Amino acid sequence: MPRPDRPTRPSARSGVAPFHVMEVLAAAKARQRARGDALLLCTGQPATPAPRRVRAAAAAAAAEEVLGYTEAAGDPALRAAIAAWHRGRYGTAVTAGQVVVTTGVSGALILVFLAALDPGDEVVLARPGYPAYRNTLAALGAEVVELDCGPDTRHQLTAEMLAALPRPPRAVIVTSPDNPTGTIIDEAELARIARWCAAHGTLLVSDEIYHGIDYGRRCASALESSAAAVVAGGFSKYFSMTGWRLGWLILPEELVGPVTRLAANLTVCPPAVSQAAAAQALHPESLAELDGHVRRYRDNRDLLLEGLAAAGIDRVAPADGAFYLWADVSDYTDDSLVWCAELLDRTGVALAPGVDFDAVHGGGRVRLCYAGAPGDLAEACRRLSRVTGRA
Ligand SMILES: Cc1ncc(COP(=O)(O)O)c(C=O)c1O
Repeated sequence: MPRPDRPTRPSARSGVAPFHVMEVLAAAKARQRARGDALLLCTGQPATPAPRRVRAAAAAAAAEEVLGYTEAAGDPALRAAIAAWHRGRYGTAVTAGQVVVTTGVSGALILVFLAALDPGDEVVLARPGYPAYRNTLAALGAEVVELDCGPDTRHQLTAEMLAALPRPPRAVIVTSPDNPTGTIIDEAELARIARWCAAHGTLLVSDEIYHGIDYGRRCASALESSAAAVVAGGFSKYFSMTGWRLGWLILPEELVGPVTRLAANLTVCPPAVSQAAAAQALHPESLAELDGHVRRYRDNRDLLLEGLAAAGIDRVAPADGAFYLWADVSDYTDDSLVWCAELLDRTGVALAPGVDFDAVHGGGRVRLCYAGAPGDLAEACRRLSRVTGRA
């Protein structure tokens, strides 16, 4: 009789690549517990809480409301508030019916990938890029096609690159401002990409999670150029609400039903307490508070650029937005994983290894997050100088 298979055997699709920065983070936290001198520039989240009005609304909702399941597509008032915010900010014609509230942009991406893609469909991404796209798509059986995007295109893909592909892919993902590079895609180029996708039957998914965090270069929404684009946005970054787990999709009409049915089956609805409070994040008083954070990020960015240059790290992607610097450290290493581990060990500075974002060139790159305290950034640069021999 053949031996039965192990009941706990993991699926083949679960064998996605690890996110190495989580190992760095665990080691940095251990160092912090043991020695109290860790400087965490490795993870990508604001060091500030949600806006005051959001916290007050959540406290009131928790005290006074039942907070049961909401509609699968999200609370109608929040959907309307997000649509109005998008119309006001970008001059689009988005309606509440096109908005689906999701469990972060992470949840949004799973829903749109499931709703629009079949196994084997090709999806084009920029390399370097956010690793969860590649890994989630791989788990869902899509074919990921990475396009090498260097400094000449701000590490962003272009319509010309899409036109050079052997066949139009099923979908393209763009991210602007970008993680890990912090670059903003040129406005006219985004319009060209959107038009190319619409003309070739390719779904454009625009991850706009870092919108609001930019330093002078305009960041357009893909919906300004194409009503057929899907926009994923969220409360985690500009709105300083990572742990509230709330994002949204703005969808062409045809995808609203499939996404809503999938959402109901997969998670019933996004967190009700977060939904009850999130519209307050769009209030002018909250936006003023959040713009204050963006001013601090800008100062932090300038401080870090200066400190890195003094430490001998001066090849950095244009830091247009988000709160990341993508630095070329190939003068010091071709194995960013080992370099980051040694850096942490020797100095307590935790950075994200470039291999997480770029499996080809990432051995000589690191990502630094500057959402934290200015004092920590200055001290991190001092310690880095010791490692690069510039101290
Ligand atoms: C480009 C990008 N998209 C999506 C996400 C996921 O965000 P959320 O917290 O909304 O799930 C992140 C988080 O770092 C990100 O950098």
